[in-house]
Amino acid sequence: MSLNLILMGLPGAGKGTQAQYIVDKYQIPHISTGDMFREAISNETALGLKAKEYTDKGNLVPDEVTNGIVKERLAEDDTKPGFLLDGYPRTLEQADALAQMTEDLNKPLSAVINIDVDPKLLTDRLTGRFICKKCGATYHKLYHMPKVPGTCDVCGGHEFYQREDDKPEAVKTRLKVNIKMNTPLISYYKDRNLLFNVDGSQSIDEVWQKVDQILSSL
Ligand code: AP5
Ligand code: MG
Ligand code: ZN
Repeated sequence: MSLNLILMGLPGAGKGTQAQYIVDKYQIPHISTGDMFREAISNETALGLKAKEYTDKGNLVPDEVTNGIVKERLAEDDTKPGFLLDGYPRTLEQADALAQMTEDLNKPLSAVINIDVDPKLLTDRLTGRFICKKCGATYHKLYHMPKVPGTCDVCGGHEFYQREDDKPEAVKTRLKVNIKMNTPLISYYKDRNLLFNVDGSQSIDEVWQKVDQILSSL
């Protein structure tokens, strides 16, 4: 049986952090629309140029663009054992588009995990985040420092960067935009009996224990 998952949560909730553990243990591809946009932006592709206008300011990329890249990605062979969508869907239009894709591809969703965090905690998480240039591993200056200061735990790299949209102005917009969309999406998946809520205000390890418990019970 394949494991077809959605990881939901507001910006900074810990989607990317938990995704690293999930894909490691369950061996399914991590499909993060945010990562896909950032890669396109750094490669200066047509998609990247279009996405950049939205992502830099913290706004959502238009649905038809986002739906298009997910549709192509889900059709790839490596999604046979399953997939982990991170940061998609984010609007009801995207949720409907995804429902159509999963039906066409015969890959029904197994579960939607919502990492629930009080928005008050999120600004700190985003503005304190830093990322390894070489491998993309995510750290935090207070909550998740590399074991050896200045050295990535995963790849040993020494260079780190901050995301363009982790600057305070963009963070404000991201939280506003995403909070508005979050409640209807949660209801959408609750109504379809797919939703699992996890308290994301706990430590990274505690959140992972809960997520893993849910996934191993499916
Ligand atoms: P995306 O890259 O998805 O950004 P986001 O949703 O804003 O989420 P983040 O990646 O910032 O947060 P995260 O939940 O992954 O948190 P993380 O694990 O890093 O999207 C970026 C942009 O792309 C969007 O704004 C939009 O423009 C566009 N886009 C993407 N998808 C789209 C879509 N579907 N439709 C339209 N546009 C789209 O953790 C954050 C920090 O907290 C880290 O420093 C981490 O170390 C720390 N941390 C994590 N967990 C904990 C914990 N439990 N306790 C303490 N610290 C923690
Ligand atoms: Mg992320
Ligand atoms: Zn690294």
